[in-house]
Amino acid sequence: MRLNVAVTSAGSAPAVAVIKALKKQNEIICHITAMDMDPLSSGNYLADDIAAIPASGAPGFIDKVLAACRRHEVQCLIPIIDEELFVFSAAIDRFNAAGIKVIVNDAKVIRLAKDKRRAYHFCAQNNILFPRVFSATDIAGIKAADYPLIIKPNDGRGSLDTAVIKDKNELDFFKEHLNGRIIQRFIGGPEFTIDIVASPDGSVLQAVPRRRLSVKAGMSYKGETVNDRRIIEYGKKVAALFKINGPANIQCIVNEEKIYLIEVNPKFAAGLPLTVAAGVNLPLILIKSAYGLKVAKNELKFKDKLFMLRYWEEIFIEG
Ligand SMILES: Nc1ncnc2c1ncn2[C@@H]1O[C@H](COP(=O)(O)OP(=O)(O)O)[C@@H](O)[C@H]1O
Ligand SMILES: [Mg+2]
Repeated sequence: MRLNVAVTSAGSAPAVAVIKALKKQNEIICHITAMDMDPLSSGNYLADDIAAIPASGAPGFIDKVLAACRRHEVQCLIPIIDEELFVFSAAIDRFNAAGIKVIVNDAKVIRLAKDKRRAYHFCAQNNILFPRVFSATDIAGIKAADYPLIIKPNDGRGSLDTAVIKDKNELDFFKEHLNGRIIQRFIGGPEFTIDIVASPDGSVLQAVPRRRLSVKAGMSYKGETVNDRRIIEYGKKVAALFKINGPANIQCIVNEEKIYLIEVNPKFAAGLPLTVAAGVNLPLILIKSAYGLKVAKNELKFKDKLFMLRYWEEIFIEG
């Protein structure tokens, strides 16, 4: 099978990971069009074709992407970064009407996952441990035993704008500078990102835990696959509860016997190359599921204790 695929935000780490994953397999021969607002996006030069599109917040964004898809005969579109997810999900009918499948979660899933305060209340109702998020009125009642805390944006990304709060002095400073950020209990312990394999009908096929050994700029810089039954089952349970039906990864911290949910990201992770190298080609599997193709059991098996050490790589283009 041959397929014309578009990957947006082509310069971002997850986009590059998706392009590489689709290029390293032969089951579906993908002709990839990289879409980005920046003509110098690295992903542009890993793909077969380039299409310039505006920023996702720009007027007429979807019209322009649809026009680019028509020009490049795109059959399947893979949105990548947070800002685009909801925009594409909300416009999915327009793409489907044009014969284009969009590999994205339902808008409802994205709305819940991207709102940490809402996710906290949702988890509390569903018996999933989620570090306590203090409401504006609860902040006054924070006790010595509640420290350390963390302050972070309610709809954050890439660990930006976060800080650990060690004591009341620091809290007194930060509570005057909330700016839409939430204050939450800080949980110590190893952190895992679990890549989720879910089909468009919401069935969860697999969960691949990766331990985050070193993080730079919010992305896993060194990681290791962990074939731990408990974390796999946990990932599957949380994914089903959040009704994941597209690309997603779940971040959690294991504190002794307890697993705390930190975040559900309804998108491909920057650490995706490790999952692909371990044997689970997530972008390929999601495309296959979208086209109703059977996913074999061995496509879901992954190598345990595979380490990923990352480094910079350069592309040179002549002007
Ligand atoms: N409650 C918490 N306890 C301990 N560490 C946390 C907590 N919340 C966030 N972190 C750390 O901060 C990082 C970024 O937080 P996250 O909720 O994933 O926000 P973002 O949306 O920026 O990715 C996490 O990967 C984790 O390392
Ligand atoms: Mg995160």
